[in-house]
Amino acid sequence: MKKIVINGGKCLSGTIKIGGAKNSAVALLPAAILADGIVEIDNVPNISDCDALIDIMKSLNAEIKVINDKVTIDASNIKNKLITEEFSTKLRASYYFMGAMLGRFKYVEICLPGGCNIGSRPIDLHLKGFEALGATVQKEGSKFILRADQLIGTDINLDFASVGATVNIILAAVKAKGVTRILNAAKEVEIVNLIDLLNRMGANIKGAGTSEIIISGVDFLHSASIDIIPDRIEAGTYIIMGALLGENLKVDGIREDHLTELLLKLKEMGVNYVINGNSITLNKVENLLPIHVKTEVYPGFPTDLGQPMAVLLTQAKGKAYFEETIFENRMGHVKYLNMMGASIQGDNKNVVIMGPTKLTGKDIVATDLRSGAALVAAGLLAEGETVISDVEHILRGYERIITKLSDVGANIKIVEI
Ligand code: UD1
Repeated sequence: MKKIVINGGKCLSGTIKIGGAKNSAVALLPAAILADGIVEIDNVPNISDCDALIDIMKSLNAEIKVINDKVTIDASNIKNKLITEEFSTKLRASYYFMGAMLGRFKYVEICLPGGCNIGSRPIDLHLKGFEALGATVQKEGSKFILRADQLIGTDINLDFASVGATVNIILAAVKAKGVTRILNAAKEVEIVNLIDLLNRMGANIKGAGTSEIIISGVDFLHSASIDIIPDRIEAGTYIIMGALLGENLKVDGIREDHLTELLLKLKEMGVNYVINGNSITLNKVENLLPIHVKTEVYPGFPTDLGQPMAVLLTQAKGKAYFEETIFENRMGHVKYLNMMGASIQGDNKNVVIMGPTKLTGKDIVATDLRSGAALVAAGLLAEGETVISDVEHILRGYERIITKLSDVGANIKIVEI
């Protein structure tokens, strides 16, 4: 079992380089199996979620080459095989093979996905979308069997602008007959990145980044290459750490236009930052203002930054409010922050954070990926030693996090216990 050990209180200075977006990579890798040709994806983050997707593709007989951050996928000889629990439960996004395999073979057998435990996370919208395209969905224990004689384009109105359902429906519809319109589609920049790749492969998809995505089915997808966009959540996490502990901490390789809501909120709190092209430099300030943060679908404040943001709010002077609107249970970090000395009260939707509070190192547990990132931020700030268990969650989504933070002055290490 791995644990992260942090001796807190050190300033962070130097440069942290942001990697490719996890949430893009986990959609683009499965999308590659739709091509009869070679797909090159560059700037793939070095995280265990991507390793798990590559293992799934290898198990399906795809040829994969990984050189540094570039992954080359040749799925010409891919086989339609069951994706077993051994593979599917390693990450949530394994379910993107539902859409991709359905699009390619019109048949897929796959076990339930894994991923962060942040609520019930149903996949009804994905399944309704597949059914609307003409597939039947059968469930046998933990296994789904999806099949269609043919997939036929249609209008699909999502009850909620789900990222996962939008991605899965695009993957299934890209080679369907006729036109599919996804209404109330998710607008996330990672979906724009996916549509860019598919269009480079010969797809005909319009409306990327809007709530109406129009997919005109094509018969054939060919070789293509693409760069993954920078990870706005990784960037946001280090930006928040810079606001807590920065001494000219530069976070490099960001897209300012992907971070608008976070930056507005930081400005409202009085965080001291300067943006120069693709980098942002942060310095810690003493008097942070308490504010109200509410997570919303893109382009609103991202739910994935809510937990790290909570740590910053513990340092604001007065009463701050935080509201989670996307997931049922994204407050796994609260118990541990309170153990460390924070004052956070509330339920799974709304919390009140009283600050500023001094944090002290404790033995704590990463309950999910972003709560883990929040606890790392708290450990960096706290006095004394913080030991975080269940760090596999963190390694699923933050590439080289120990090295990146050590290089800017943090006293952080990973130990095998
Ligand atoms: C994606 C992101 C995740 C981010 C989230 C919201 C990836 C790999 N993950 O997750 O980092 O936090 O978007 O921005 O891109 N829902 C249903 N039925 C469904 C699908 C979703 O009820 O069929 C609900 C979910 O339970 C949740 C909400 O809709 O409450 C949002 O889910 P969704 O947008 O699908 O998030 P993910 O794709 O899981």
